[in-house]
Amino acid sequence: MRILVVGPTGRTGCHVIDALRSRDPDVSIRGLCRYPETRTRSIEVMPGNLDTGGQRTRAIEVMPGNLDTGGQRTRAIEVMPGNLDTGGQRTRAIEVMPGNLDTGGQRTRSIEVMPGNLDTGGQRTRAIEVMPGNLDTGGQRTRAHRIECLTGDLENPADRTLAVEGMDVVVHYAPAFHPRETAMGTGMIDAAVAAGVKRFVYVSALHVQAASVPGNAAKLAVEGYLAESALEWTVLRPQSFMQNIDVAAALAAGKLDLPFPLGTRQGHVDIADLAEVLAKVTFEDGHALAGYDIASDEALGTAEIAALIATVSGQPVASGEIPVAQLVAGLEAAGPGYAYVAEAALRLNAWQARSGGRGNAKTLRWLLGREPGRFEDYVRRCLGA
Ligand SMILES: NC(=O)c1ccc[n+]([C@@H]2O[C@H](COP(=O)([O-])OP(=O)(O)OC[C@H]3O[C@@H](n4cnc5c(N)ncnc54)[C@H](OP(=O)(O)O)[C@@H]3O)[C@@H](O)[C@H]2O)c1
Repeated sequence: MRILVVGPTGRTGCHVIDALRSRDPDVSIRGLCRYPETRTRSIEVMPGNLDTGGQRTRAIEVMPGNLDTGGQRTRAIEVMPGNLDTGGQRTRAIEVMPGNLDTGGQRTRSIEVMPGNLDTGGQRTRAIEVMPGNLDTGGQRTRAHRIECLTGDLENPADRTLAVEGMDVVVHYAPAFHPRETAMGTGMIDAAVAAGVKRFVYVSALHVQAASVPGNAAKLAVEGYLAESALEWTVLRPQSFMQNIDVAAALAAGKLDLPFPLGTRQGHVDIADLAEVLAKVTFEDGHALAGYDIASDEALGTAEIAALIATVSGQPVASGEIPVAQLVAGLEAAGPGYAYVAEAALRLNAWQARSGGRGNAKTLRWLLGREPGRFEDYVRRCLGA
């Protein structure tokens, strides 16, 4: 079986590759992402995430069209806020079109584009080491997992076509808070249909019908497009990931700050459980044309999570609330190119604060054949306890 895993360097992708390999160590996996050599640090990781540019390892993307000059660009350019002096990480510069970013004439140097972005797109293929479990469980890995990875962009139809070629299964999920995640999803579905892909597994989100959240609306549209296709699809709808909570950072700070009222109990699911189910529906028959909620019954307030970290580590961890304005301040300050991300993050936060993003674990329990992972297990794993 040949499987394409979109976003192999992301948190979901890493866990998925881990789970696929644990079912079949020899399974043939192809990845598709833009920067195979760099591990992605999702902007969804809390705490202190969105307002601490300096702590981020990756830039948030600025999309063509967002900076008033989109029509002149053919690809997304990544702008590194405060980072234009880190050229050493990139291999080549390109000329930026005058008028781009509204400051063309004023710039003294061009913005650099990552290798593979403009000219080599999906044509570059290389073996990469994927860090299963990415941020939280990498250390537990006993052996390197290598996959063949295409360097390409989900926004590029040619890259999508190359990526799905020869694949039996496509595992697709969108980069978080991407303004064009619907187009990426429907584009991947079109490519899969054209290539005769047998099975399409799509990672959506729990309660995707809560359409006040832009990311949900985008995912719902992709789910609808899948249902219109003749593919054998399976949709997995995960709750907020436990991995959004950066246990090591909370421990280092002696405090866990989350952007919710302290009384809000949040539902979380372990990405490892999501990945286990994804591997199951990929390898086993009987899951076509089905959508599954991937949720736990556990819902914890910030103080309860802080207390768990304190208990497991034996060190005090206080709890607090990050003002929502602070959550998006960094994005808003970064300019209009971040407007969608800021809006999407705000609305997601508002919905989570209202509803707790809670879910029902019955389906996940059935799929796993065991209880879903508990938050305490996740904390223990993070701390190697
Ligand atoms: N966090 C949660 O609690 C939660 C809950 C439910 C659902 N979700 C959904 O799960 C998904 C996010 O998963 P995640 O946190 O695992 O993502 P992530 O860690 O941000 O990883 C994104 C992956 O996609 C790749 N990527 C980004 N832009 C790309 C592009 N234009 N073309 C090709 N590849 C691209 C990245 O690699 P490169 O940067 O190298 O391209 C990376 O491998 C989102 O759809 C989110 O809405 C999240």
